[in-house]
Amino acid sequence: MAEFAKPVIFVSLLFSFSCLTTVHGDQRKKEVESEQKINNNNKCDLFDGIWVYDESYPLYESSDCDFIEKQFDCSKNGRPDKFYLKYSWHPSACKLPRFNGEDLLKRMRGKSIMFVGDSLSLNQWQSLTCMLHKSVPHSQYTNLRNGLLSTFTFPEYDVKVMMSRNVFLVDLVDEKSVGRVLKLDSIEAGQFWKQFNVLIFDSWHWWLHTGRKQPWDYIQEGNQTVRDMDRLVAYEKALRTWTKWVDNNVDPSKTKVFFQAVSPDHLNGKDWGEKGSNTCEGQERPVKGKSYGGGPHPAELVVEKVLREMSNPKLVYLLNITTLSQLRKDGHPSVYGYGGHRGMDCTHWCLPGVPDTWNQILYAALINQNE
Ligand SMILES: *[C@@H]1O[C@H](CO)[C@@H](O)[C@H](O)[C@H]1NC(C)=O
Ligand SMILES: *[C@@H]1O[C@H](CO)[C@@H](O)[C@H](O)[C@H]1NC(C)=O
Repeated sequence: MAEFAKPVIFVSLLFSFSCLTTVHGDQRKKEVESEQKINNNNKCDLFDGIWVYDESYPLYESSDCDFIEKQFDCSKNGRPDKFYLKYSWHPSACKLPRFNGEDLLKRMRGKSIMFVGDSLSLNQWQSLTCMLHKSVPHSQYTNLRNGLLSTFTFPEYDVKVMMSRNVFLVDLVDEKSVGRVLKLDSIEAGQFWKQFNVLIFDSWHWWLHTGRKQPWDYIQEGNQTVRDMDRLVAYEKALRTWTKWVDNNVDPSKTKVFFQAVSPDHLNGKDWGEKGSNTCEGQERPVKGKSYGGGPHPAELVVEKVLREMSNPKLVYLLNITTLSQLRKDGHPSVYGYGGHRGMDCTHWCLPGVPDTWNQILYAALINQNE
């Protein structure tokens, strides 16, 4: 497998950055400086900032990508308001680099990016494939689905952007005589993940499912089997199995690992202090300012703790998108996803929309890590 970092490409990009400086004058120079601030040191917290109304947004129209799934395609499903499309994320200490899909494809030549997780991961994967396609609209692509695995390919760049549906990361096994067993300490899929160059994981929402939506009959850890346990505890145990896999298997010169922090839902208006609103329906603007009434998400605290306690915490870059997404109560499909009040969706995100920002940050982190 090719080495991840390509010093030659990086040098030429630095060179083109400095050319741009002279071409576009002071404004561009300032932008390049703040972009380089990210590139040259890790001081800037990309996750601490505010949403700003921005006429130049969105980065694409949903009609640019006819492969966006119905559940995310809010404008096609008739969402009438447009403000939610027009916000860009502004970190307090620096500027988020402009997303340059062609640059990303060139840097990734011969490599593959894989998302592993649930439908929030699918949401981010669809956003990224659309952002990339929009950057090189005349370059051919293929978009194939094979069971739980989706593969979006840009043959001209020899880049694959994949999505593997795996909602718990640890194993869920159907054992004929027993039932469906969720094994908190077993992670067979890890064998498959090792070959990829960029891995972006997520897992949370399925840990909350009960009743008919709960896909297991038993939870197993070692030789202990139980019917149920505190879901945050189960989540923590599974995440520890995952971080142990990362610690023991990931070679950082070949593979960059990201974890998409908890994507918040907005099913309860109490969190943002609006009386009488218990869905995200009708929300047209983000929460103003930097903080969100509800405080930190309990699952987010588990993720942070488990990552901190890794043998090598540097192996995982946390896409710490929880707070910035909490501010976007306006970004969900609500009745413009699968449609109507029975399909009320305050969990996923419209595309274009919030996951585009997650991918801008992913891009910033990738070009930074590539140095
Ligand atoms: C994630 O971002 C929030 C909001 O900026 C911050 O409070 C928290 O400390 C961050 N977590 C980590 C692990 O950086
Ligand atoms: C269950 O696992 C524990 C710890 O790994 C071990 O000490 C114990 O002997 C095991 N019990 C059985 C019945 O296998």
